[in-house]
Amino acid sequence: STGLCTFDPGFTSTGSCDSSITYIDGLKGVLLYRGYDVEQLAECGDFNDSAHLLLHGELPTAEQKAAFDRDLTLHSLVHEQLIMFYRGFKHDAHPMAIMVGVAGALSAFYANAADVGNPQQRLHSCIRLIAKMPTLAALAYRTATGLPIIYPRNDLGYAARFLHMMFAFPTQPYNVDPVLSRALEKTLILHMDHEQNASTSTVRTAGSSHANPFACIASGIAALWGPAHGGANEAVLRMLEEIGSPERIPAAVARAKDKKDPFRLMGFGHRVYKSFDPRARVMRRVAHEVLAHLNITSDPLLEIAMELERVATHDPYFVQRGLYPNVDFYSGIVLRALGVPVSMFTVLFAVARTVGWVAQWNEMAAQQQIAPKISRPRQMYTGHMQREFAPPHADA
Ligand code: SDX
Repeated sequence: STGLCTFDPGFTSTGSCDSSITYIDGLKGVLLYRGYDVEQLAECGDFNDSAHLLLHGELPTAEQKAAFDRDLTLHSLVHEQLIMFYRGFKHDAHPMAIMVGVAGALSAFYANAADVGNPQQRLHSCIRLIAKMPTLAALAYRTATGLPIIYPRNDLGYAARFLHMMFAFPTQPYNVDPVLSRALEKTLILHMDHEQNASTSTVRTAGSSHANPFACIASGIAALWGPAHGGANEAVLRMLEEIGSPERIPAAVARAKDKKDPFRLMGFGHRVYKSFDPRARVMRRVAHEVLAHLNITSDPLLEIAMELERVATHDPYFVQRGLYPNVDFYSGIVLRALGVPVSMFTVLFAVARTVGWVAQWNEMAAQQQIAPKISRPRQMYTGHMQREFAPPHADA
Protein backbone atom coordinates (compact mmCIF):
# COMPACT_ATOMS: atom_id res chain seq x y z
CA SER A 1 0.00 0.00 0.00
CA THR A 2 1.22 3.55 -0.60
CA GLY A 3 -0.09 4.61 2.81
CA LEU A 4 -3.52 5.23 1.39
CA CYS A 5 -6.42 4.25 3.59
CA THR A 6 -6.39 0.49 4.14
CA PHE A 7 -9.27 -1.48 5.61
CA ASP A 8 -8.04 -3.40 8.66
CA PRO A 9 -9.58 -6.90 8.41
CA GLY A 10 -9.58 -6.91 12.18
CA PHE A 11 -11.97 -3.97 12.14
CA THR A 12 -14.85 -4.85 14.39
CA SER A 13 -17.38 -2.39 15.65
CA THR A 14 -17.71 -2.43 19.42
CA GLY A 15 -19.66 0.81 19.24
CA SER A 16 -23.05 -0.89 19.26
CA CYS A 17 -24.61 -2.57 22.29
CA ASP A 18 -27.73 -4.41 23.41
CA SER A 19 -29.98 -2.40 25.71
CA SER A 20 -33.59 -2.68 26.91
CA ILE A 21 -33.75 0.76 28.52
CA THR A 22 -34.68 3.41 25.93
CA TYR A 23 -36.13 3.17 22.44
CA ILE A 24 -36.05 5.98 19.84
CA ASP A 25 -37.74 6.09 16.44
CA GLY A 26 -36.05 9.10 14.87
CA LEU A 27 -38.33 9.21 11.83
CA LYS A 28 -41.60 9.02 13.79
CA GLY A 29 -40.33 11.10 16.71
CA VAL A 30 -40.97 8.38 19.29
CA LEU A 31 -39.10 8.10 22.61
CA LEU A 32 -39.91 5.28 25.08
CA TYR A 33 -38.43 4.59 28.53
CA ARG A 34 -38.77 0.82 29.09
CA GLY A 35 -41.74 0.90 26.68
CA TYR A 36 -43.55 3.88 28.22
CA ASP A 37 -44.02 7.07 26.15
CA VAL A 38 -41.78 9.80 27.60
CA GLU A 39 -44.46 12.47 27.06
CA GLN A 40 -46.89 10.53 29.30
CA LEU A 41 -44.22 9.91 31.93
CA ALA A 42 -43.33 13.61 32.00
CA GLU A 43 -46.90 14.93 31.95
CA CYS A 44 -48.39 12.41 34.40
CA GLY A 45 -45.56 10.79 36.38
CA ASP A 46 -43.12 11.91 39.05
CA PHE A 47 -39.33 11.95 38.92
CA ASN A 48 -38.76 9.07 41.35
CA ASP A 49 -41.16 6.77 39.47
CA SER A 50 -39.38 7.35 36.16
CA ALA A 51 -35.98 6.92 37.82
CA HIS A 52 -37.15 3.62 39.32
CA LEU A 53 -38.48 2.57 35.90
CA LEU A 54 -35.18 3.28 34.13
CA LEU A 55 -33.07 1.68 36.85
CA HIS A 56 -35.17 -1.40 37.66
CA GLY A 57 -37.17 -1.87 34.44
CA GLU A 58 -40.63 -1.37 35.97
CA LEU A 59 -42.65 1.39 37.62
CA PRO A 60 -42.56 0.88 41.41
CA THR A 61 -45.28 -0.77 43.47
CA ALA A 62 -46.45 1.29 46.47
CA GLU A 63 -44.01 -0.58 48.72
CA GLN A 64 -41.11 -0.21 46.25
CA LYS A 65 -41.92 3.50 45.84
CA ALA A 66 -41.77 4.10 49.59
CA ALA A 67 -38.36 2.40 49.80
CA PHE A 68 -37.00 4.15 46.67
CA ASP A 69 -38.23 7.58 47.82
CA ARG A 70 -36.57 6.98 51.19
CA ASP A 71 -33.28 5.97 49.56
CA LEU A 72 -33.16 9.03 47.29
CA THR A 73 -33.96 11.26 50.27
CA LEU A 74 -31.53 9.79 52.78
CA HIS A 75 -28.62 9.63 50.31
CA SER A 76 -29.00 13.26 49.19
CA LEU A 77 -26.40 14.45 51.72
CA VAL A 78 -22.72 14.49 50.66
CA HIS A 79 -19.70 13.85 52.91
CA GLU A 80 -18.73 17.08 54.71
CA GLN A 81 -15.13 16.75 53.53
CA LEU A 82 -16.31 16.76 49.92
CA ILE A 83 -17.74 20.23 50.47
CA MET A 84 -14.18 21.45 51.05
CA PHE A 85 -13.43 20.63 47.37
CA TYR A 86 -15.62 23.53 46.33
CA ARG A 87 -13.44 26.00 48.21
CA GLY A 88 -10.52 25.12 45.92
CA PHE A 89 -12.07 26.23 42.64
CA LYS A 90 -11.39 29.62 41.09
CA HIS A 91 -14.27 31.96 41.98
CA ASP A 92 -15.44 32.14 38.35
CA ALA A 93 -15.02 28.44 37.50
CA HIS A 94 -17.75 27.15 35.16
CA PRO A 95 -20.11 24.94 37.20
CA MET A 96 -19.55 22.08 34.75
CA ALA A 97 -15.82 22.25 35.50
CA ILE A 98 -16.72 21.89 39.17
CA MET A 99 -19.13 19.02 38.51
CA VAL A 100 -16.56 17.02 36.55
CA GLY A 101 -14.22 17.37 39.52
CA VAL A 102 -16.55 16.66 42.42
CA ALA A 103 -18.38 13.78 40.71
CA GLY A 104 -15.05 12.05 40.17
CA ALA A 105 -14.10 12.89 43.76
CA LEU A 106 -17.06 10.82 44.99
CA SER A 107 -14.76 7.88 44.15
CA ALA A 108 -12.58 8.86 47.11
CA PHE A 109 -15.54 8.42 49.46
CA TYR A 110 -17.59 5.57 48.04
CA ALA A 111 -15.52 3.54 45.55
CA ASN A 112 -14.61 1.03 48.27
CA ALA A 113 -18.28 0.01 48.38
CA ALA A 114 -18.76 -0.02 44.59
CA ASP A 115 -17.59 -3.44 43.46
CA VAL A 116 -18.83 -3.53 39.85
CA GLY A 117 -19.16 -7.31 40.10
CA ASN A 118 -21.57 -7.02 43.06
CA PRO A 119 -25.18 -6.29 41.96
CA GLN A 120 -26.19 -4.89 45.38
CA GLN A 121 -23.18 -2.56 45.52
CA ARG A 122 -23.82 -1.48 41.92
CA LEU A 123 -27.42 -0.60 42.76
CA HIS A 124 -26.35 1.23 45.93
CA SER A 125 -23.88 3.30 43.88
CA CYS A 126 -26.64 4.14 41.37
CA ILE A 127 -28.90 5.36 44.19
CA ARG A 128 -26.07 7.40 45.72
CA LEU A 129 -25.35 9.11 42.40
CA ILE A 130 -28.99 9.93 41.57
CA ALA A 131 -29.56 11.21 45.11
CA LYS A 132 -26.39 13.30 45.41
CA MET A 133 -26.19 14.98 42.00
CA PRO A 134 -28.72 17.76 42.86
CA THR A 135 -26.78 18.49 46.06
CA LEU A 136 -23.46 18.62 44.17
CA ALA A 137 -25.09 20.90 41.58
CA ALA A 138 -26.57 23.31 44.12
CA LEU A 139 -23.24 23.40 45.98
CA ALA A 140 -21.51 24.42 42.72
CA TYR A 141 -23.89 27.37 42.37
CA ARG A 142 -23.92 28.45 46.03
CA THR A 143 -20.15 28.32 46.54
CA ALA A 144 -19.42 30.01 43.17
CA THR A 145 -21.73 32.89 44.13
CA GLY A 146 -20.52 33.13 47.72
CA LEU A 147 -23.94 32.17 49.08
CA PRO A 148 -24.38 30.09 52.24
CA ILE A 149 -24.73 26.35 51.68
CA ILE A 150 -28.29 25.01 51.99
CA TYR A 151 -28.60 21.37 52.99
CA PRO A 152 -31.10 18.98 51.32
CA ARG A 153 -34.44 18.83 53.14
CA ASN A 154 -35.97 15.39 53.73
CA ASP A 155 -39.53 16.70 53.59
CA LEU A 156 -39.28 17.81 49.96
CA GLY A 157 -39.50 15.86 46.68
CA TYR A 158 -36.57 15.56 44.30
CA ALA A 159 -37.14 18.70 42.20
CA ALA A 160 -38.42 20.82 45.10
CA ARG A 161 -35.41 19.80 47.18
CA PHE A 162 -33.10 21.05 44.43
CA LEU A 163 -34.91 24.40 44.06
CA HIS A 164 -34.76 24.85 47.84
CA MET A 165 -30.99 24.17 47.90
CA MET A 166 -30.52 26.62 45.02
CA PHE A 167 -32.63 29.55 46.16
CA ALA A 168 -33.38 29.36 49.93
CA PHE A 169 -31.68 31.48 52.56
CA PRO A 170 -31.02 30.33 56.14
CA THR A 171 -32.12 33.75 57.37
CA GLN A 172 -35.67 33.68 56.06
CA PRO A 173 -38.43 31.20 55.14
CA TYR A 174 -38.47 29.92 51.55
CA ASN A 175 -41.43 28.05 50.13
CA VAL A 176 -40.92 26.17 46.90
CA ASP A 177 -43.53 27.11 44.28
CA PRO A 178 -45.28 23.79 43.44
CA VAL A 179 -45.96 24.85 39.83
CA LEU A 180 -42.30 25.69 39.24
CA SER A 181 -41.19 22.53 41.02
CA ARG A 182 -43.49 20.47 38.78
CA ALA A 183 -42.12 22.22 35.67
CA LEU A 184 -38.59 21.31 36.75
CA GLU A 185 -39.67 17.72 37.42
CA LYS A 186 -41.09 17.38 33.89
CA THR A 187 -37.88 18.85 32.48
CA LEU A 188 -35.72 16.40 34.45
CA ILE A 189 -37.81 13.39 33.34
CA LEU A 190 -37.49 14.42 29.68
CA HIS A 191 -33.69 14.61 30.02
CA MET A 192 -33.16 11.34 31.92
CA ASP A 193 -32.05 9.03 29.14
CA HIS A 194 -31.64 8.98 25.39
CA GLU A 195 -30.20 5.65 24.23
CA GLN A 196 -26.52 5.68 23.20
CA ASN A 197 -25.86 9.44 22.95
CA ALA A 198 -22.30 10.73 23.20
CA SER A 199 -22.17 11.06 26.99
CA THR A 200 -23.93 7.73 27.68
CA SER A 201 -21.57 5.97 25.27
CA THR A 202 -18.69 7.59 27.16
CA VAL A 203 -20.02 6.24 30.46
CA ARG A 204 -20.41 2.77 28.96
CA THR A 205 -16.90 2.87 27.49
CA ALA A 206 -15.39 3.94 30.82
CA GLY A 207 -17.49 1.31 32.63
CA SER A 208 -16.35 -1.45 30.27
CA SER A 209 -12.86 -1.11 31.79
CA HIS A 210 -14.47 -1.80 35.22
CA ALA A 211 -13.73 1.76 36.40
CA ASN A 212 -15.82 2.69 39.44
CA PRO A 213 -19.25 4.22 38.70
CA PHE A 214 -18.35 7.66 40.12
CA ALA A 215 -15.38 8.00 37.75
CA CYS A 216 -17.61 6.81 34.88
CA ILE A 217 -20.24 9.47 35.64
CA ALA A 218 -17.49 12.11 35.76
CA SER A 219 -16.53 11.07 32.21
CA GLY A 220 -20.17 11.39 31.14
CA ILE A 221 -20.38 14.91 32.59
CA ALA A 222 -17.25 15.87 30.65
CA ALA A 223 -18.73 14.59 27.37
CA LEU A 224 -22.12 16.23 28.01
CA TRP A 225 -20.48 19.66 28.48
CA GLY A 226 -19.81 20.11 24.75
CA PRO A 227 -22.07 22.65 22.96
CA ALA A 228 -22.86 20.07 20.28
CA HIS A 229 -24.38 17.89 23.04
CA GLY A 230 -25.63 18.91 26.47
CA GLY A 231 -24.02 22.34 26.29
CA ALA A 232 -26.55 23.25 23.59
CA ASN A 233 -29.19 24.47 26.07
CA GLU A 234 -26.79 27.17 27.27
CA ALA A 235 -25.80 27.88 23.66
CA VAL A 236 -29.46 28.23 22.58
CA LEU A 237 -30.13 30.98 25.08
CA ARG A 238 -26.98 32.85 24.06
CA MET A 239 -28.04 32.46 20.40
CA LEU A 240 -31.56 33.82 21.09
CA GLU A 241 -30.05 36.75 23.01
CA GLU A 242 -27.62 37.38 20.11
CA ILE A 243 -30.45 37.34 17.54
CA GLY A 244 -32.19 39.85 19.80
CA SER A 245 -35.39 40.44 17.80
CA PRO A 246 -37.72 38.58 15.40
CA GLU A 247 -36.67 40.99 12.64
CA ARG A 248 -33.16 39.55 12.73
CA ILE A 249 -34.27 35.93 12.34
CA PRO A 250 -33.98 35.81 8.51
CA ALA A 251 -30.33 36.86 8.72
CA ALA A 252 -29.63 34.20 11.38
CA VAL A 253 -31.32 31.50 9.28
CA ALA A 254 -29.30 32.58 6.23
CA ARG A 255 -26.06 32.31 8.25
CA ALA A 256 -27.05 28.83 9.51
CA LYS A 257 -27.46 27.70 5.88
CA ASP A 258 -24.18 29.21 4.71
CA LYS A 259 -21.55 26.44 4.66
CA LYS A 260 -18.78 29.02 4.87
CA ASP A 261 -20.24 30.34 8.13
CA PRO A 262 -19.65 28.16 11.24
CA PHE A 263 -22.89 29.51 12.78
CA ARG A 264 -25.48 26.78 13.44
CA LEU A 265 -28.98 27.08 14.85
CA MET A 266 -28.36 25.77 18.36
CA GLY A 267 -31.15 23.52 19.59
CA PHE A 268 -31.86 22.44 16.02
CA GLY A 269 -31.01 19.13 14.38
CA HIS A 270 -30.18 15.74 15.81
CA ARG A 271 -28.10 12.68 14.97
CA VAL A 272 -31.18 10.46 15.29
CA TYR A 273 -34.37 12.57 15.10
CA LYS A 274 -35.15 13.60 11.54
CA SER A 275 -38.54 14.81 12.72
CA PHE A 276 -39.72 16.71 15.80
CA ASP A 277 -37.92 15.66 18.99
CA PRO A 278 -40.91 14.64 21.18
CA ARG A 279 -39.17 16.21 24.18
CA ALA A 280 -39.15 19.60 22.44
CA ARG A 281 -42.95 19.51 22.15
CA VAL A 282 -43.33 18.98 25.90
CA MET A 283 -40.67 21.58 26.71
CA ARG A 284 -42.53 24.12 24.56
CA ARG A 285 -45.73 23.44 26.57
CA VAL A 286 -43.81 23.70 29.86
CA ALA A 287 -42.33 27.03 28.77
CA HIS A 288 -45.82 28.44 28.15
CA GLU A 289 -47.11 26.99 31.47
CA VAL A 290 -44.28 28.51 33.52
CA LEU A 291 -44.44 31.96 31.89
CA ALA A 292 -48.24 32.04 32.30
CA HIS A 293 -47.89 31.02 35.96
CA LEU A 294 -45.36 33.82 36.49
CA ASN A 295 -47.72 36.27 34.72
CA ILE A 296 -45.07 36.92 32.09
CA THR A 297 -47.40 37.81 29.25
CA SER A 298 -44.63 38.34 26.74
CA ASP A 299 -41.15 36.90 26.89
CA PRO A 300 -38.92 38.28 24.10
CA LEU A 301 -36.74 35.16 23.93
CA LEU A 302 -39.75 32.83 23.73
CA GLU A 303 -41.20 34.99 20.94
CA ILE A 304 -37.90 34.80 19.05
CA ALA A 305 -37.73 31.02 19.63
CA MET A 306 -41.30 30.46 18.39
CA GLU A 307 -40.73 32.61 15.28
CA LEU A 308 -37.36 30.96 14.61
CA GLU A 309 -39.03 27.54 14.84
CA ARG A 310 -41.79 28.68 12.45
CA VAL A 311 -39.36 30.11 9.88
CA ALA A 312 -36.85 27.25 9.99
CA THR A 313 -39.43 24.44 9.91
CA HIS A 314 -40.87 25.96 6.73
CA ASP A 315 -37.46 26.43 5.08
CA PRO A 316 -36.53 23.72 2.53
CA TYR A 317 -32.90 23.66 3.74
CA PHE A 318 -34.01 22.49 7.19
CA VAL A 319 -36.96 20.36 6.10
CA GLN A 320 -34.93 18.46 3.48
CA ARG A 321 -32.23 17.72 6.09
CA GLY A 322 -34.69 16.70 8.80
CA LEU A 323 -33.64 19.57 11.06
CA TYR A 324 -36.21 20.34 13.77
CA PRO A 325 -36.06 21.70 17.32
CA ASN A 326 -34.49 19.25 19.76
CA VAL A 327 -34.83 18.99 23.53
CA ASP A 328 -32.46 21.90 24.08
CA PHE A 329 -34.39 24.44 22.05
CA TYR A 330 -36.93 25.39 24.73
CA SER A 331 -35.30 24.01 27.87
CA GLY A 332 -33.19 27.11 28.41
CA ILE A 333 -36.30 29.33 28.39
CA VAL A 334 -37.88 27.14 31.09
CA LEU A 335 -34.75 27.05 33.28
CA ARG A 336 -34.27 30.82 32.93
CA ALA A 337 -37.90 31.37 34.03
CA LEU A 338 -37.21 29.16 37.08
CA GLY A 339 -34.36 31.51 37.99
CA VAL A 340 -31.59 29.07 37.08
CA PRO A 341 -28.52 30.98 35.78
CA VAL A 342 -27.44 30.13 32.20
CA SER A 343 -24.15 28.68 33.44
CA MET A 344 -26.14 26.05 35.36
CA PHE A 345 -28.28 24.85 32.41
CA THR A 346 -25.99 21.99 31.41
CA VAL A 347 -25.49 21.09 35.06
CA LEU A 348 -29.26 20.50 35.26
CA PHE A 349 -29.01 18.33 32.15
CA ALA A 350 -26.26 16.32 33.91
CA VAL A 351 -28.39 15.95 37.06
CA ALA A 352 -31.24 14.47 35.00
CA ARG A 353 -29.04 12.38 32.71
CA THR A 354 -27.33 10.76 35.70
CA VAL A 355 -30.42 8.51 35.93
CA GLY A 356 -29.88 7.23 32.38
CA TRP A 357 -26.11 7.05 32.79
CA VAL A 358 -26.29 4.87 35.91
CA ALA A 359 -29.08 2.70 34.47
CA GLN A 360 -27.07 2.11 31.29
CA TRP A 361 -23.84 1.57 33.29
CA ASN A 362 -25.57 -0.95 35.54
CA GLU A 363 -27.04 -2.78 32.52
CA MET A 364 -23.61 -2.91 30.87
CA ALA A 365 -21.93 -4.10 34.11
CA ALA A 366 -24.46 -6.93 34.41
CA GLN A 367 -23.80 -7.88 30.77
CA GLN A 368 -20.06 -7.73 31.51
CA GLN A 369 -20.49 -10.31 34.25
CA ILE A 370 -21.77 -12.77 31.65
CA ALA A 371 -19.49 -11.78 28.77
CA PRO A 372 -16.66 -9.39 29.78
CA LYS A 373 -15.78 -7.25 26.76
CA ILE A 374 -13.92 -3.95 27.05
CA SER A 375 -15.07 -1.29 24.58
CA ARG A 376 -12.36 -1.19 21.90
CA PRO A 377 -13.44 0.50 18.66
CA ARG A 378 -11.03 0.01 15.73
CA GLN A 379 -10.13 2.58 13.03
CA MET A 380 -9.70 3.09 9.32
CA TYR A 381 -5.91 3.64 9.17
CA THR A 382 -4.97 6.49 6.81
CA GLY A 383 -1.29 6.98 7.73
CA HIS A 384 2.00 5.59 6.33
CA MET A 385 2.53 1.85 6.24
CA GLN A 386 5.93 0.62 7.52
CA ARG A 387 8.98 2.40 5.99
CA GLU A 388 12.77 2.18 6.58
CA PHE A 389 14.26 4.52 9.17
CA ALA A 390 17.16 6.75 8.08
CA PRO A 391 18.69 9.14 10.66
CA PRO A 392 17.38 12.61 9.81
CA HIS A 393 19.83 15.25 8.56
CA ALA A 394 22.50 12.54 8.06
CA ASP A 395 24.13 14.70 5.39
CA ALA A 396 24.19 17.86 7.61
C1 SDX B 1 -28.39 16.59 22.32
O1 SDX B 1 -27.48 12.04 20.70
C2 SDX B 1 -28.39 12.45 21.48
O2 SDX B 1 -29.36 11.76 21.76
C3 SDX B 1 -28.15 13.81 22.09
C4 SDX B 1 -29.30 14.37 22.94
C5 SDX B 1 -29.49 13.58 24.20
O3 SDX B 1 -30.59 13.61 24.75
O4 SDX B 1 -28.48 13.00 24.68
O5 SDX B 1 -30.50 14.36 22.20
C6 SDX B 1 -29.00 15.80 23.38
O6 SDX B 1 -27.19 16.64 22.24
C7 SDX B 1 -29.27 17.29 21.33
C8 SDX B 1 -28.45 18.03 20.24
C9 SDX B 1 -27.98 19.34 20.88
N1 SDX B 1 -27.05 20.06 19.95
C10 SDX B 1 -27.44 21.14 19.28
O7 SDX B 1 -28.60 21.58 19.27
C11 SDX B 1 -26.33 21.82 18.49
C12 SDX B 1 -26.86 22.21 17.11
N2 SDX B 1 -27.11 20.98 16.33
C13 SDX B 1 -26.06 20.50 15.54
O8 SDX B 1 -24.75 20.85 15.85
C14 SDX B 1 -26.30 19.17 14.89
O9 SDX B 1 -27.61 19.13 14.48
C15 SDX B 1 -25.99 17.92 15.68
C16 SDX B 1 -24.61 17.96 16.25
C17 SDX B 1 -26.98 17.75 16.78
C18 SDX B 1 -26.09 16.81 14.70
O10 SDX B 1 -25.14 17.13 13.72
P1 SDX B 1 -24.93 16.23 12.46
O11 SDX B 1 -24.73 14.83 12.93
O12 SDX B 1 -23.95 16.81 11.53
O13 SDX B 1 -26.37 16.35 11.81
P2 SDX B 1 -26.75 15.79 10.45
O14 SDX B 1 -25.77 14.76 9.98
O15 SDX B 1 -28.16 15.38 10.60
O16 SDX B 1 -26.62 17.09 9.48
C19 SDX B 1 -27.26 17.05 8.25
C20 SDX B 1 -27.05 18.40 7.60
C21 SDX B 1 -25.59 18.82 7.46
O17 SDX B 1 -25.53 19.66 6.32
P3 SDX B 1 -25.15 18.97 4.86
O18 SDX B 1 -23.76 18.42 4.99
O19 SDX B 1 -26.20 17.88 4.63
O20 SDX B 1 -25.26 20.11 3.88
O21 SDX B 1 -27.67 19.43 8.39
C22 SDX B 1 -26.70 20.40 8.76
C23 SDX B 1 -25.37 19.72 8.66
O22 SDX B 1 -24.36 20.66 8.46
N3 SDX B 1 -27.04 20.79 10.13
C24 SDX B 1 -27.34 22.04 10.50
C25 SDX B 1 -27.64 21.97 11.87
N4 SDX B 1 -27.51 20.71 12.28
C26 SDX B 1 -27.14 19.99 11.20
N5 SDX B 1 -27.41 23.20 9.81
C27 SDX B 1 -27.74 24.32 10.53
N6 SDX B 1 -28.05 24.33 11.86
C28 SDX B 1 -28.01 23.16 12.56
N7 SDX B 1 -28.28 23.15 13.88
